[in-house]
Parts: sequence; C-alpha cells; structure tokens
Amino acid sequence: MRVLVTGGAGYIGSVVTEQLLGDGHEVVVYDNLSKGHLDAVVEGAEFVEGNLGDAELLNKALGDWQIEAVIHMAASSLVGESVDHPNKYYQNNVITGLVLLDAMLAADVKRLVFSSTAAVYGEPEAQPIEESAPTNPTNPYGETKLAFEHALKWFDRAYGLRYASLRYFNAAGATANCGEDHDPETHIIPITLQAATGKRAQVEIYGDDYPTPDGTCIRDYIHVVDLARAHIQALAALDEGSRIYNLGCGGAGYSVKEVIDTARRVTGREIPTNIGPRRAGDPAILVASSDRIKSELGWQPQFQNLELIIDSAWRWMQDHPNGYAE
Ligand SMILES: NC(=O)c1ccc[n+]([C@@H]2O[C@H](COP(=O)([O-])OP(=O)(O)OC[C@H]3O[C@@H](n4cnc5c(N)ncnc54)[C@H](O)[C@@H]3O)[C@@H](O)[C@H]2O)c1
Repeated sequence: MRVLVTGGAGYIGSVVTEQLLGDGHEVVVYDNLSKGHLDAVVEGAEFVEGNLGDAELLNKALGDWQIEAVIHMAASSLVGESVDHPNKYYQNNVITGLVLLDAMLAADVKRLVFSSTAAVYGEPEAQPIEESAPTNPTNPYGETKLAFEHALKWFDRAYGLRYASLRYFNAAGATANCGEDHDPETHIIPITLQAATGKRAQVEIYGDDYPTPDGTCIRDYIHVVDLARAHIQALAALDEGSRIYNLGCGGAGYSVKEVIDTARRVTGREIPTNIGPRRAGDPAILVASSDRIKSELGWQPQFQNLELIIDSAWRWMQDHPNGYAE
C-alpha cells in the first residue's frame, strides 16, 4: 500500500515508517518538523515538509503519491501545555485534523489509522482499562483526541471513511535507528536515562505515598515497535470496518521505582532521585488492557518486558548522545 504517515518525523511515526517500509509498503512522511527531526525520516520514505493545516499541499501530496491510506500521528501531545494553551490543542489536534479528513475525502482516500491516547479515559475506576470504560478526559490533550475520534465516527457513517483509533499510554524503547528525542522531554524512561548519563542531575519522583506496593504511581509502557505493529495490523483490518482498540501492557503495569531500578540495572549507573510531592491529577494506577486487539487482530507484543524496553532506549541513547541533533 502507499501510505501517508503524518508526524512521520516524530518518535513513534519514524518507527511506524520503518516497519511499513520493512513490510514492503511505500511511505510518504508528512511533517512540519515542529517537534520532529529531518534525520528521523527513515531512508526509503518520501518526505513532504508541510503543515497539516495546509490543505493545498496536503491535497497535492495525497494526489501526487496516489496515497491509499493514512496513519495519523501528527499532534500536539504535552498534557501540561494543553492545560495552559488549549487553543493550540484544538487548533492542531482538531482543526488541522479536519483539514486532513477533508483532503482524504477529496482524494478518495478512505482508510485512516489514528494514534489517539488512553488520556481519553481520564481517571477510570477499573484497571486495566477496557474500551468499554467511559471516556472522561481531564485535560485538553485527551479532550481534543476524543473530539477527533468523534468526528471519525460521523465521517465513517456519512462518507464511508474507515478508521481504527488506537488508545495507549506510554510509548517507550527504540529501534537501532529510531529513538525518542523530545524537547522538552516529559517521559520517564528517557528522563531516567538522561540522569544515568549525567545530563540531568536527578529524577524527580512525584509522590511515594500512593496506595501501590512501593508507594509510587504505576503506569503502562509499550515498546514502540509493538505499537507500530499494532498500527499496521489495524490498517490491514480496516476493510472489515472501523474500530477502537486500547493498547497496553495489560498486566500489573510498572511503578516509577521499578522503572528507575530497572534502568539502574540496565545501565549499571547510579541514578539519583528526589521524592517530591504528588502532582495534581495523577491517578495511582493507569494500565490499559489489550484484550480486544489481541482477540480480534491477533496482535501480540514481542517486547513486553521492561528490561528489554529500557535496554533498547539506552542503546539508542548511547549511539545518539545528542539525539538527532548530531
Ligand atoms: N509518545 C507517547 O507515549 C504517546 C502516547 C499516546 C499517544 N501518542 C500519540 O502518538 C502520536 C505520536 O507521538 P510521538 O511521541 O511520536 O510525538 P512526536 O512529537 O515525536 O511526533 C509528532 C510529529 O508530528 C509533527 N507535527 C505536529 N503537528 C503537526 C502539523 N500540524 N503538521 C505536520 N506535522 C506536525 C511533529 O513535527 C512531530 O514530528 C501523537 O499523536 C501522540 O498524541 C503518543
């Protein structure tokens, strides 16, 4: 298939591109490099530098490359920033998303895989979170992802646009060539590894008095390759109808202390920590269930092991001490 990957110069998008190319698909990366990196555009992919809001350029890219499907990864995705600047999130995650959908309809492209987020659930009662859990986002990031999902439902009904929406928490890990290089970095695994290299003085632990076995928050981490495979499997299943899947480690999840201890083991380095107060709006446990995608699509994560995940991120960081900046 000829696939357009929006946000393909970003962290997860680069790995999705790598996996698509490996499977023999043709890929056009569409990215404005606002957060991504030119060097993250995988060799073998075509690259269009542009903003999703630029309807003319988007129409041209879809037409010129005879695109058959879109994997939509481009978004603004910082929870804290979304609370301070909801306008940016409605603009980038909803309004430009609608530009993409209109361009797809104009080009008769009717297949879309959307990287949503498990933040659409807010603070659910039951863990692990199933797709049937009520959606109740607690920040504009989750809210705008959910708004786009709602648009997809109606575009399917009215125009036959088939979509798969994938809701997950924390992508983690790396491949040999594609890794995580965000500015600012807000994800605990790269932050912890930066502390291992001395780039960061310490890791801040936000609260150790939660009702969890070691008192720190429990979260869900999925290897970025497993995520990419899920996007590709969801794409292959689109002709059978639209769907929503959670992606998660499904089991007990991993505590913040467990992540840091595993990183100490993997790196063999000291990682200083500081216990600070809880952050507002941080639930004790957030873990998603992958039961539905496993039973419907046969998705099976290959790297669902914290040590493997951290080891792959560490290797990438050692090969790219300055990220993609080199
Ligand atoms: N990283 C995670 O743990 C995680 C978890 C759940 C969901 N997601 C979702 O997965 C997707 C990818 O996440 P990521 O961590 O790879 O993010 P990222 O910031 O590394 O990648 C996003 C890419 O989109 C590009 N982009 C943003 N707005 C654009 C626009 N208007 N036009 C063109 N390009 C634009 C950026 O330049 C960047 O390269 C996002 O949609 C995010 O919400 C990520």
